[in-house]
Amino acid sequence: MKIIVTGGAGFIGCHLSRKLVEEGNEVLVIDAIHPYYSKKRKLDQLHYIGEAGPYRFEEKNLLDDEEDIRRIFLEFQADCVVHLAALPGVSYSLEAPGQYVDYDVKATVNVLKFSGESNVKKVIYASSSSVYGEQANKPLTEAMATGKVISPYAAAKYGAESFCHAFASMYKYDMTILRFFTVYGPWGRPDMAITKFIERILNGEEITVYGNGTSRDYTYIDDIIEGIYAAIHKAPGTNIMNLGSSCPVSIEELIEAIAKHFPDMKIHHAGFRQGDVTSTWADTSKAKELLGFQAKVPFDEGLARTVKWAVDYYGKE
Ligand SMILES: NC(=O)c1ccc[n+]([C@@H]2O[C@H](COP(=O)([O-])OP(=O)(O)OC[C@H]3O[C@@H](n4cnc5c(N)ncnc54)[C@H](O)[C@@H]3O)[C@@H](O)[C@H]2O)c1
Repeated sequence: MKIIVTGGAGFIGCHLSRKLVEEGNEVLVIDAIHPYYSKKRKLDQLHYIGEAGPYRFEEKNLLDDEEDIRRIFLEFQADCVVHLAALPGVSYSLEAPGQYVDYDVKATVNVLKFSGESNVKKVIYASSSSVYGEQANKPLTEAMATGKVISPYAAAKYGAESFCHAFASMYKYDMTILRFFTVYGPWGRPDMAITKFIERILNGEEITVYGNGTSRDYTYIDDIIEGIYAAIHKAPGTNIMNLGSSCPVSIEELIEAIAKHFPDMKIHHAGFRQGDVTSTWADTSKAKELLGFQAKVPFDEGLARTVKWAVDYYGKE
């Protein structure tokens, strides 16, 4: 298959692109190498894809390089587009909300439009558990998202979902919206808790833990990739699905699990951060029914693999 992966130099994108290359697909990665985190890290992630075999890379911004992107889409004639490119992160969205309208909404509109113009058959959009906002009841089923969110990041993701519906209706392509629940693993985003904690501990620095009694449905990267891969090959029509492990881990359990690897770690406790929901917990029955999705990697196992990767990667820096 011919597949475009936007944001392919990112955390999830490099794992997905590598698997798609391994499976013999013709892969085109479009990524702006946005400075949200280090350029070196993104170049290393591109290198990680390349270890699996040849693929095409275009360093373009979906927002600013509109005409180039249109031409690339028209020339490449993809069967499927997986749109992962976005400005991620809840905290930064409180500081720079306008950028999330640009990077998470406007850029998505461009991808949806160019997919339609180039007769793409299927578009997959990377949404987020943050679209559920703060909810009293758990686990979270797809119908529980109503747009009542608590951060600009989540508002942008929910808004982009709406554009997905509009463009799927206008251009008649199959549209799969996948809501990822806190993804972690090797090449994990450096601003996210698990990667940030391990990096700081390896540098001999203390870690800052925000709030208490919070929990996250941490989902190992390989499980997310299996879900996206299944969505590329199955999932007809327009669907929204949660991809999560369905096993929430409290912040206290997370610290305990990390302490098994680093018993001497130093912790600083701080208050709750604005924009963060208290807890997440995915109901994945729909993804199970439509994709045969079932998260397989237990948290302790995923964490051990992540620690091993981090020790190797940061040890070499
Ligand atoms: N990591 C998670 O836990 C998580 C959870 C829920 C949803 N998501 C979503 O999954 C997707 C991938 O997340 P990630 O963690 O891999 O993030 P990431 O920041 O590692 O990857 C995103 C990539 O998109 C690129 N990009 C951003 N704006 C661009 C633009 N305008 N043009 C071209 N490239 C651009 C960046 O350079 C980056 O390489 C995002 O849409 C994110 O919102 C991630």
